[in-house]
Parts: sequence; C-alpha cells; structure tokens
Amino acid sequence: MPRGGPDRYALFGHPVSHSWSPFIHGLFARQFGHDIEYKLVDVERADFRRAVIDFFVDHGKGLNVTLPHKQAAAEVVNELTPRAARAGAVNTIVARDAMQLLGDNTDGAGLITDLVDNLGVSLEGSRILVLGAGGAVRGVLAPLLRCRPEELRIANRTRERAEGLAQEFGDLGNITISGFADAGGGWNLVINATSASLSGQMPVLPVAAVAPGTVCYDMAYGRAETPFLAWASRLGATRCHKGWGMLVEQAAEAYLLWRGVRPETRSVIEALAGG
Ligand code: ATR
Repeated sequence: MPRGGPDRYALFGHPVSHSWSPFIHGLFARQFGHDIEYKLVDVERADFRRAVIDFFVDHGKGLNVTLPHKQAAAEVVNELTPRAARAGAVNTIVARDAMQLLGDNTDGAGLITDLVDNLGVSLEGSRILVLGAGGAVRGVLAPLLRCRPEELRIANRTRERAEGLAQEFGDLGNITISGFADAGGGWNLVINATSASLSGQMPVLPVAAVAPGTVCYDMAYGRAETPFLAWASRLGATRCHKGWGMLVEQAAEAYLLWRGVRPETRSVIEALAGG
C-alpha cells in the first residue's frame, strides 16, 4: 500500500549536498498547491541500482539523477524516452504502472529553452564551441545539433572523449573537435560544460575564442562569477550567463513528466540568480 503524506521525490547523486533542486521543486509545487517532498540523497556508485529500485518499491513518485549516475540510470530503467536513448544518459525517472521505470533526459531541453526562449540566442547557422566531453555534454549535443548550427566544435582536454562523441552524434550535424589551445575563434556561442570550475579552474583557451558579441554560457552556477565567465568578461564579452536558467528549465521538464503540468520558470530563475 502506498504510504500517506506528500508525494515523494528525490535527487540521487554523489555528491548532492550543493544542489538547489529541493528549493526549485518546492517553488514549483507551491505554484500548483501540490503537496510534495523532495530530498537529496547521497548515493555511491555501487549502491545506485539498489537505491533506485528500493525508492520505487517504497512508492516514491519520481527521481532526478545527477553526477556520476546519469549513464548508469539509463541501464536501470525499463524504457527510455527517445531523447534519453539518444543521449545515452538519464536525469529523470518516473514509475509507470506495475514498476515500469521510464527514463528521460531533460538537460538538453533545459539548455535550449534557456538559450533560445529566455536569453534570445539564435542557434540556427551559428558556430558553437562546447568545452568538455563528459556526461553533461552527452545530454545536450543532440538538442543543440537539431537547432542546425553551421558548426559545433567539441574541445576537450582528453581528445579521445571528444572523438567518441563526434562519432556518436556526427549523423546529426557538422561536429569538429580540438583541444583547448587550438579551439579557434569567431564563435557565436561558447558553452563551458567542463567540471573544471568546480575546482576553481578553467580550460586555457585562445583569446580569439571570445569576442564582445560572443554569448558565453557556463553550465556551472553559484553566487560567485565562474572562472570561465570572469575570463570572458575580461576579454570584453558582454553576454555572459551562468547556468541557473538551464537548471530551472530542466527541473520544469522533470516536473512536467512527473505531474503533467509545466511550472512557470521565470520567477524561479529570478529567485535563484537575481538575489
Ligand atoms: P560531467 O557529467 O560534469 O560532464 P564528467 O563526465 O566527469 O562530468 O566530465 C567532466 C568534463 O570536464 C570532462 O570533459 C573533463 O575533461 P577530460 O575528458 O579530459 O577528463 C573536464 N574537466 C574536468 N576537470 C578539468 C580541468 N581541470 N580542466 C579541463 N577540463 C576538465
């Protein structure tokens, strides 16, 4: 029997203590008068599969999944949405009837909604430089390529990982690869998807990589300016954005999957980024 009380949701990751997701989903729930609980759960790699199954056996309603479990989550579920299958990574799980777990990936939609709808960035025919080739990039490549950029370059410290992604997603558009030092210039949009800023570092890029009109987007967020955006600002870039909008938009897509309604996001982004 399902227990009484609020509908239960959680984020599984390692680490998770820094996450803003409980705050975001709390604001979403308030918009609709929904009674939900959203917990952060630190789950180590070896315990992930068991923890997911236990959560849903115990009538949990939905999960978010973050680093380092997104690829493992794609293996745990019974069914993938087309976008999660293409990404090979899952950030949202919902239980359908009789313990059928559906895995989705809302990261790409979150990024595109923030870039296009919130920030008014035009992607078609543009030249996009993506820094990094890890799990965060895997989730956003297909949605970015579907916006038909002229070129999408993946620059990464480890060249083989960039090559692997270029092979996997090359059918969707024109992907080139490079290291950081030879990342080139004339980019309309530069997205930092490395985890370097978590340790206060940033890839060493050529100064030509950004110009005053380049949109610079860091998937990282936090109160302080990120090393990448600080660097871009020093070079005169005026359109610098932290990833608060992507965070809130991917959460809104997850909420839609779980509860059938899409929350209003602008006020939530302002609450996080504006304060
Ligand atoms: P995520 O899910 O956040 O993408 P990940 O799969 O561990 O995490 O990938 C981290 C990314 O950040 C990788 O592209 C990594 O580069 P490598 O493929 O060479 O490991 C990149 N990265 C991490 N620390 C970095 C640093 N100090 N400088 C440059 N790139 C870094």
